[in-house]
Amino acid sequence: MRIIRTAYEMQQTVLALRAQGRRIGLVPTMGFLHAGHLSLIRLARERSDVIILSLFVNPTQFGPREDLAKYPRDFDRDAALCHAAGVDILFAPEGADLYAPDASVWVVEEKLAAGLCGAARPGHFRGVCTVVVKLFNLCLPQIAVFGEKDAQQLRVIRRLVRDLNFPVEIIPGPIIREPDGLALSSRNVFLSAEERRQALVLRRALDEAERLFRAGARDAEALRSALRLIIGQVPAAKVDYIAVVDDDTLAPVQTLDQPALVALAVYIGQTRLIDNTVLKP
Ligand code: PAJ
Repeated sequence: MRIIRTAYEMQQTVLALRAQGRRIGLVPTMGFLHAGHLSLIRLARERSDVIILSLFVNPTQFGPREDLAKYPRDFDRDAALCHAAGVDILFAPEGADLYAPDASVWVVEEKLAAGLCGAARPGHFRGVCTVVVKLFNLCLPQIAVFGEKDAQQLRVIRRLVRDLNFPVEIIPGPIIREPDGLALSSRNVFLSAEERRQALVLRRALDEAERLFRAGARDAEALRSALRLIIGQVPAAKVDYIAVVDDDTLAPVQTLDQPALVALAVYIGQTRLIDNTVLKP
């Protein structure tokens, strides 16, 4: 496995690989890798012959009062995991190499990014879109893999690729969970043992949404109330949002007669966790 630290070397390397006709698969991450990230590497492996995993804690997608400084990092462990998982190139640029101090061009998606995490975290998706475009330009992948765990991010990136004509196929990866149902996340390390137990309420609420839906419930507001009740019973949980939105447009729905995304963002203590499920009639 090769480790590349600069944007210039990354682009030169991949230009040579593309000239040889190699098919490049990109897995963008912010590191502190877990089995969710590793599942994306496997999906990329099935569809490409050179796997690039990018590891970059992107400062522009963090708000001023968010956890950029304390975002978990462990480069040596991540590099070992990448090596074992068959990553060909670990691209881990420095922040200063990726953003000029007077950078003034940003990529903004104006519809899908407006609600949910976009409303709760202003500027977040501007940072995500901008860094993803940079990674596409530096790694020149034919395919890129993104997890369903970040459902809104996946939809925003698909729209970005469509609307700016990127020659990149976006492959979705299913949510990988702990055996007890907690969705894997780099932020789970912030949870105390007690919070870790209470964090299961996200999956419990989504299970209940699925159960009610299968039993015929179609009223979005009633569904949200049921989920609010379940989450409200957990002392450490504070709801950021409970959303029932159209799976394509991410606009709030009243009746679940089209595929709907049920998305949760819940603080467990100080840690903000997200999870989601898609309900299809
Ligand atoms: P990060 O949170 O590190 O996630 C990297 C990728 O792993 C994302 O596509 C995310 O959806 C996926 N992922 C995370 N947890 C997962 C799980 N439990 N199951 C399946 N996939 C999971 O998302 C980002 O980084 C950044 O915003 C990034 C796209 C890299 C841009 O900076």
